[in-house]
Amino acid sequence: MSKLSKARDYVAQNKDKINQEYRLSYHVMAEIGWINDPNGFCYYNREYHLFYQYYPYNSQWGPMHWGHVKSKDLVKWEHLPVALAPDMYYDADGCFSGSAIEKDGKLYLMYTGHTNPDPEKPENIRQIQNIAVSEDGIEFTKVKANPVIGTKDLPEHALPQDFRDPKVFKHGEDFYVVVASCNEDRSGQILLYKSKDLLDWTYVGILARSENKLGKMWECPDFFRLDNTDVLILSPMALKRDGDRYCNTNSSVYILGDFDFENCKYNYHTVEEIDAGFDFYAPQTMIDDKGRRILIAWMQMWGRNMPTHEKNHQWAGAITLPRELKLVSGKLYQLPVEEMKNYRANQVSYKHITVKNQSTLAGVEGQNIELELEIDALDASKFGLKILKDEENETVMYYDKTEGKFVFDRSKNGEALLGAEQDEDIKYIRKVAVTLLNNKLKLRIFIDRSSVEIFIQDGEKVMSSTVYPKSTAKNIEFFSDSEIIIIELNKWDIKL
Ligand code: FRU
Repeated sequence: MSKLSKARDYVAQNKDKINQEYRLSYHVMAEIGWINDPNGFCYYNREYHLFYQYYPYNSQWGPMHWGHVKSKDLVKWEHLPVALAPDMYYDADGCFSGSAIEKDGKLYLMYTGHTNPDPEKPENIRQIQNIAVSEDGIEFTKVKANPVIGTKDLPEHALPQDFRDPKVFKHGEDFYVVVASCNEDRSGQILLYKSKDLLDWTYVGILARSENKLGKMWECPDFFRLDNTDVLILSPMALKRDGDRYCNTNSSVYILGDFDFENCKYNYHTVEEIDAGFDFYAPQTMIDDKGRRILIAWMQMWGRNMPTHEKNHQWAGAITLPRELKLVSGKLYQLPVEEMKNYRANQVSYKHITVKNQSTLAGVEGQNIELELEIDALDASKFGLKILKDEENETVMYYDKTEGKFVFDRSKNGEALLGAEQDEDIKYIRKVAVTLLNNKLKLRIFIDRSSVEIFIQDGEKVMSSTVYPKSTAKNIEFFSDSEIIIIELNKWDIKL
């Protein structure tokens, strides 16, 4: 049996055996097994397609396949058969991350073939770029021309063992691809290649380099134009902590600038973290038929213990909500796509509620909900809310006016969650600089059983994290050190 059929059979036969305890209800997850990066996010034949790094056989990373889902509205997703398996000599140890693009009605996937012939000798790893094509968006054929970009196409000083995650796009009449690479000095760089037909590629140049200033190896690049700006998205490994920024082992950043395609020169001026939570990595974007630039990411982080694996629940990992990107005053804003609103149910609303010390609001609770609120801080210096709460557990978020920061604390979330991050002060806490607008704080919070995504000040800052409360921990409590006013609050169940 082929590796692809074996994976498909395994999923079909075993998917009902997983433990549902922490499963999310309105996010993409695999039916069984491990997932990491989103791949091949695209709009094809009037549907959204999303692929992901996938190992069906375990809730830990293993030889990568590509899992596959599709959707008409980015919220309700349908599982499709596994799309790629590591079954060729050039991808024998994994079909690593990549992207998708349509050409002449066909869907092209471009991905990294990973081979690791001797695990004792990492220097023998090879990573090269391949194409698989489909006429129906479900069955993919790896082309004969593979690898379409090989080790011989690397520029001088680029390491052949770290060359991955092609993100393909069209500019004018040509196709381009940005690929992550590592220089001999072990710092990341982004290579640019050009093609007329997606099969025959010419090296253009180095689009950007870390020079060991912005982390080590760079992973998962994405490059696109948004509001007259050339945006480069990257996931730098081992980016050094800088106060409240870059607190995770690996980070995801956006870079803003102007790119000159003629001379392959990227002049950039802004580098910022995309998401300030614990669990966000390897984001990828796509543009849809409405012209929206939409981003999603893996809602996890390397180097963490994962309760669903430890408890043998047979699955691990989820994808964030799809977020529409906008540039506002030189910053990248993110808000969940509008379609999310179609799944709001059982609205509970409050207006002009005064909170002092602690209060709860009847009907405001739940584990699969959206909460939207605007708070007038008055003279309070610390105010916020506890969610997913019972006698033992709670996940806490608050605004600290003295520090000018929004704080997320999952120390009592329900499970010990330990990452590779060493500093004591950030083991369970993340902070992000937020400015009140007319002394007001606006929040949209999406809770989905074991995940929390917080969109602060209309999406100016976002925090995404996993949490593992008991199924009974669903209360919400507001608190403040002096009077505040909840100007308006809406709570909806999210029902698919
Ligand atoms: C990022 C990453 C990619 C690679 C993939 C392997 O999370 O390390 O660079 O292609 O995961 O699964």
